[in-house]
Amino acid sequence: MDRSGVEAETLEVHDLAVGLARQAGAIQRERYETEFDIATKSGPIDLVTEVDRQCEALIVSGIESARPEGAILAEEGGGHDAQDALWRWIIDPLDGTTNYAHGFPRFCVSIGIERAGEREVGVVYDPLLDELFHGVRGAGAWLGDRRLAVSQERQLGQALIATGFAYDVHRSEENNVEAFTRMLRAARGLRRDGSAALDLCYVAAGRLDAYWEYKLHAWDVAAGSLLVVEAGGGVTDAKGGPAPRSGVEVVASNGHLHGAILERLEP
Ligand code: IPD
Ligand code: CA
Ligand code: CA
Repeated sequence: MDRSGVEAETLEVHDLAVGLARQAGAIQRERYETEFDIATKSGPIDLVTEVDRQCEALIVSGIESARPEGAILAEEGGGHDAQDALWRWIIDPLDGTTNYAHGFPRFCVSIGIERAGEREVGVVYDPLLDELFHGVRGAGAWLGDRRLAVSQERQLGQALIATGFAYDVHRSEENNVEAFTRMLRAARGLRRDGSAALDLCYVAAGRLDAYWEYKLHAWDVAAGSLLVVEAGGGVTDAKGGPAPRSGVEVVASNGHLHGAILERLEP
């Protein structure tokens, strides 16, 4: 990343997030495919493992000791949030928990940081591939030292797209299945890989042309959305309006395909 145009304090926050994401990722790598406790949260398919909690504790305590003034929204409840804080850390300590619990190698650590209510820093670390996606507002999105750019694909029929399903998919009628079917019949390929944060990074990297999902949370999208925008793509809600910071629903694309995706989501 070209660090010259970035304010010193933002760089400090970026570097802290990178260090903590790498440390949490190392725990995930070490404990991958070993024995660990698994519990359920909102329902029988919504899991949390001992590793999610261990990673969250590490990240939260790292932020608290280096930057105690920051607010922290962390998925497993270990933080102390304040929406109006100058610096707000939004943490998904392990995105892809179902994959992790099954030994399916697609998961990551996601840390997004807002400054005065704007996304400022995004860090996503995939520990198995040792891929560090990171970026700062105005300074681009990066995979390690390589600057990322979204794809140039304009034809939905030649696009590779991803989505995901919320943990209420068994019992809710608003379950993304109809949109999934429409997109399956329109795109070249459709993936459900199980990590929203990596899906967004893959849009930023041009590996995917677009991604959408409903019923997300702020921690799923805080880092990845910034990286998509910094890589030249677009992120909106399902109607094409500004994507809410709370996550909720996200349509991310290379920009060229955005209209075609929106048309099929809510025809
Ligand atoms: C989940 C993953 C999944 C997405 C779900 C998320 P978690 O996060 O990102 O891909 O489809 O909506 O909740 O629970 O593994 O952190
Ligand atoms: Ca998540
Ligand atoms: Ca998680």
